[in-house]
Amino acid sequence: MADDYELIDSGDGRKFERFGAYTLVRPCSQALWRPRNAEAWKTASATFDREDGNRWHGRHSLPESWNIETAGIRFKLSGTDFGHLGIFPEQREQWKWIRDNVSGAAGTSVLNLFAYSGGSTIAAAQGGADVCHLDAAKGMVQWARENAALNGLQDRPIRWIVDDAHKFLRRENRRGRRYDAVIFDPPTFGRGANGELYKIERDLQETLALIRGVLSGKPLFVLFTSHTPGLSCRVAENIVRQAFPACRRIESGEMLLGDMCPSGIYCRGVF
Ligand SMILES: C[S@@+](CC[C@H](N)C(=O)[O-])C[C@H]1O[C@@H](n2cnc3c(N)ncnc32)[C@H](O)[C@@H]1O
Repeated sequence: MADDYELIDSGDGRKFERFGAYTLVRPCSQALWRPRNAEAWKTASATFDREDGNRWHGRHSLPESWNIETAGIRFKLSGTDFGHLGIFPEQREQWKWIRDNVSGAAGTSVLNLFAYSGGSTIAAAQGGADVCHLDAAKGMVQWARENAALNGLQDRPIRWIVDDAHKFLRRENRRGRRYDAVIFDPPTFGRGANGELYKIERDLQETLALIRGVLSGKPLFVLFTSHTPGLSCRVAENIVRQAFPACRRIESGEMLLGDMCPSGIYCRGVF
């Protein structure tokens, strides 16, 4: 399988990555070790740093957008003002797991909340599921639609929703709408479609209760991922175990860039 993503090196609070033809240096708070070969980093196409505000250096060397393929998914990338590119490559193992774990039976429905550029949505659709994709940012939903089309999924049953996650979940609960699997990656701090504030430490319990309410009678799994500093695998397991006591199996771990650089955690509750 083609893979255009590579963590080339990391250290001194930064990471050096390849996305297809372009190499980038970006912040990586966990990389508290020394780089293996700092000389090589000087060849990077562009650098993003948080000193003196959020700043790109060499952004002109990057095209307006370019496409890569990783973990069997094609993505459109672009250097945003916040240093994001439209992909969180640490999710790659989750995308493979989602694709393998949405049951092949027609009609399996998956809800992807805080869905960003759609990696998990595409993985679920590739696995044969009907997907509901939700994000508060209109531009991100458009980006995810483009990614779905890049993967030849434009005619698959994917509902694209621009809304605040809680508002939407409350509505789905009222309508009695049900999903066989729910994927959620809540931000530490985020804004809904009409400026609604989301704070993980204040709002996560409500998110979990609302998700519980939309799970079908024969659910497959819930997949919780997080980049919130200090939220460990054990914390995630405790949360998922308590919120979804019917889970038969709970597995968790660190999401990694390459094989060494932790970037958040995942917790899968399998029913
Ligand atoms: C950390 S990103 C998710 C990354 C994604 N799961 C991935 O790995 O590709 C968080 C996303 O949540 C969205 N968001 C923030 N607050 C929200 C809210 N209240 N309701 C819905 N989406 C929200 C943001 O627009 C952003 O795309």
